[in-house]
Amino acid sequence: MANNIITFSALIRGIIYNNATAIKSFFHRPTRQSYLESVRTYQDIYLREPHLRRVSAAELIDESEAIELTRCIRNEWQTTLVELAVIVGFVKKRAPKSVFEIGTFDGRTTLAMHLNSPDSQIHTIDLPGGTENSPGGNEPGYLFHDRQLDGKIKQLYGNTLTFDFSPWWGTQDFVFVDAGHSYENALADSKTALYLIEGREGAILWHDYAVMPGVTKAVEEVMGHVESPVEFLWIEGTSLALLICNSGSPLRLDSEYSRTSLPEEALPAAVEKTV
Ligand SMILES: C[S@@+](CC[C@H](N)C(=O)[O-])C[C@H]1O[C@@H](n2cnc3c(N)ncnc32)[C@H](O)[C@@H]1O
Repeated sequence: MANNIITFSALIRGIIYNNATAIKSFFHRPTRQSYLESVRTYQDIYLREPHLRRVSAAELIDESEAIELTRCIRNEWQTTLVELAVIVGFVKKRAPKSVFEIGTFDGRTTLAMHLNSPDSQIHTIDLPGGTENSPGGNEPGYLFHDRQLDGKIKQLYGNTLTFDFSPWWGTQDFVFVDAGHSYENALADSKTALYLIEGREGAILWHDYAVMPGVTKAVEEVMGHVESPVEFLWIEGTSLALLICNSGSPLRLDSEYSRTSLPEEALPAAVEKTV
């Protein structure tokens, strides 16, 4: 039943996507090539099945530990309560020194991570307020902005496609990826997440895996560029994908992705090229 719904929704999205491209193609020649391109994109993204191995959340978190949640009522942009509990349980168990969230929205997950791992230094980024995505007309992260947090959460503003993340490369223990959900955005943010934990025994969680086709494709694409032994998993009952480094094996990326193999002066250009 669930599979039927996913397939049906993929078909509807594909029809809308292909028709939109056909109309665009009519006005922007050469038409034939761009329409065929759209059909390939549809097959590649919208009819994609998730491939990650499934894992039970119980294998990743300590279920007997109490967790603290706040603002549990869910907005459509956000994680489900189970997903929030898994993210927070995971963070509580690992107690990462450094956390980077890509996509703050109102700050509900940011705040929950802080409440359950108060020693973690959290950075979180979103577009500046006043954009169409602003949470109810508020600044991104407004749920924690008026709290006394001893600087443990730092709000960054910027477009993740162009933001300079290089000061944080190789410094983070845990990254939560949940910003733009198109393939292009998800791929760029997934690469950023890898650079943030490169050289460390870190972990990355992605939201909307197996739900948003662009995210699903991007996650599986970056998998192929990880050279060190890691687990790539899909947490059952959630849309969370997880990369977790094996103990004793810091994240190593192949030469196409690795930031450490590039000469200093090549880095900014390389970042721009990924978007
Ligand atoms: C799904 S919401 C994040 C939800 C949040 N992580 C949570 O768990 O409650 C996605 C957020 O990503 C932001 N976003 C989308 N594209 C972005 C971009 N290119 N750069 C920065 N932020 C972006 C949106 O403004 C939105 O607030």
